[in-house]
Amino acid sequence: MKYEAVIFDLDGVIVSTDEYHYQAWQKTADGEGIYFDRKINDRLRGVSRMESLEIILERAEKSYTEDEKVSMATAKNDLYRELLNNITPADILPGVEEALGKLKAMGIKVAIGSSSRNTPLILKRIGMDKSFDAIADGNDIKNSKPDPEVFLLAAKRLGIAPEKCLVVEDAHAGIDAALAGKMGAFAVGAAIDHPGAQAAAEDMTKVDIEEMVGC
Ligand code: BG6
Ligand code: MG
Repeated sequence: MKYEAVIFDLDGVIVSTDEYHYQAWQKTADGEGIYFDRKINDRLRGVSRMESLEIILERAEKSYTEDEKVSMATAKNDLYRELLNNITPADILPGVEEALGKLKAMGIKVAIGSSSRNTPLILKRIGMDKSFDAIADGNDIKNSKPDPEVFLLAAKRLGIAPEKCLVVEDAHAGIDAALAGKMGAFAVGAAIDHPGAQAAAEDMTKVDIEEMVGC
């Protein structure tokens, strides 16, 4: 097999949290009178909370102090975490559980590599906190995607060389991060048009797992 491990992004790959991120940012931006829409929201995929805020502030009419930025990001996160209370195992994206089952049966290690600092909460809410051999998330890293730090850490925690890891991502920044880490990159959802990915599928139900890991 070409790959010995698969590292999954969380938001948009394992579970659909996009709408909740969007709603929480929209409310935060509205509160400040800053223009925000779904197109801008698309640019936040895979990007850390504070970097997301900087993208939103491109449309702000005044400048904000660091303290003000931290309180805006905190307000967004409080709203987001409230919305996350609605998440249940029913929000696991189609094809994910089947894919994990097949990979495990094939002896392939599975990990999470996510920019989100809410990863532990989300995994618990969908009942998948014990489903992975390793987890690396926004709480563990200094540089968020497109930097490869979170994926390299996941590979290190798995004890598998980066070249033997395949990353599954829905964000352009995430595909860039995988490539920067010398890993394989499999694009799903919003990342399917990324020219650097080795392969792509609309969602996990359309993936031939054996082909994906290079059997
Ligand atoms: C990523 C999302 O997984 O996590 C981004 O795609 C989000 O949209 C980032 O900004 C950070 O998330 P959190 O939960 O730490 O605010
Ligand atoms: Mg994602």
